[in-house]
Amino acid sequence: MQTYKYIYSYNYDITEGELCKLETKYIFNREAKDKLLFSNQKVEPSHSAFIRNRLDIISLSADYSTLINEIKQKGICSKGFKVEYLVFEGDTTEYTDRLQKLRDIGFSIEGNPDYYNPTTTYALCKYGGIWYFSISIRNNNIWHKHKEKPCSFSNSLGINIAKALVNIATKANKEKTLLDACCGVGTIMLEACFAGHKIEGCDINEKTCNNARENLAYFNYTANIYHSDIKDISKRYEAAIIDLPYNLFTSATDNEISHIIESTAKITDRLVIVSISDITSLINNTGFKISDYCNVSKSGKRKFARKVWVCERNN
Ligand SMILES: C[S@@+](CC[C@H](N)C(=O)[O-])C[C@H]1O[C@@H](n2cnc3c(N)ncnc32)[C@H](O)[C@@H]1O
Repeated sequence: MQTYKYIYSYNYDITEGELCKLETKYIFNREAKDKLLFSNQKVEPSHSAFIRNRLDIISLSADYSTLINEIKQKGICSKGFKVEYLVFEGDTTEYTDRLQKLRDIGFSIEGNPDYYNPTTTYALCKYGGIWYFSISIRNNNIWHKHKEKPCSFSNSLGINIAKALVNIATKANKEKTLLDACCGVGTIMLEACFAGHKIEGCDINEKTCNNARENLAYFNYTANIYHSDIKDISKRYEAAIIDLPYNLFTSATDNEISHIIESTAKITDRLVIVSISDITSLINNTGFKISDYCNVSKSGKRKFARKVWVCERNN
């Protein structure tokens, strides 16, 4: 049996299923199954909108009594701990049995439990016939504070898609230099800064740039924002994200869209583009190939679906 260090559990809305799949591919280079992903790669859950929690595996066994003995042998001592039972696909353990198992675990750990303010949360779960005992690290959702940014914009992206774009563009590598080529009020930049990425922004509209700067400063993030047409940026980046202009406020003709894509393509080898229309032919004109594509469907008040294109330079 192959063993891994971590189990990631996922949670996403049906409209963002494809986006979650794409993000998972670029972070872990594998696919989740039954909303679970086993990996040796350590990722902070709050750096993704879709990871619900990371389980740092302490013990595992196909036999429950063996698992309990192993936990006892470890002599775990924890002041103010909590134990939770996570029910995964295929686990038919009845509620009363689950409660008893939580008690078994509680009695196998030294120290007093604290359900409301735990210092450490342990988790018990069963998947594929194997029992896992682990430390559970939840997505703390503190990044939701970005919804309260002082300057908003009707064309701003949602924060879930913004986080996913950063992970897809950088493959979750914090060392990669990243450009938000049409940064608007900085929705993508906030998520990149939160996760510790090296990002810079650019926008042709001066007021929008000032709004993005105000938003970053509000959360104490620092990043350069250039008030410029993207064609005048000459610095190179390892990846760039383009959230293309659309509709009444930031409308753009096909020529302007190609101008933005072609200008950005000159300063990077990796592009992640968000559009509301099919831009295949425009991408093909840049000498880039489309390596991935996904749809983010309509949700809430939004009247349109978005498309995300992952593009790499043809060699
Ligand atoms: C859809 S909005 C971006 C919204 C942004 N992602 C956010 O969430 O706030 C597109 C942006 O592209 C900018 N833009 C249009 N043409 C540009 C160009 N040639 N160079 C740089 N930015 C440009 C617009 O000013 C607008 O802010």
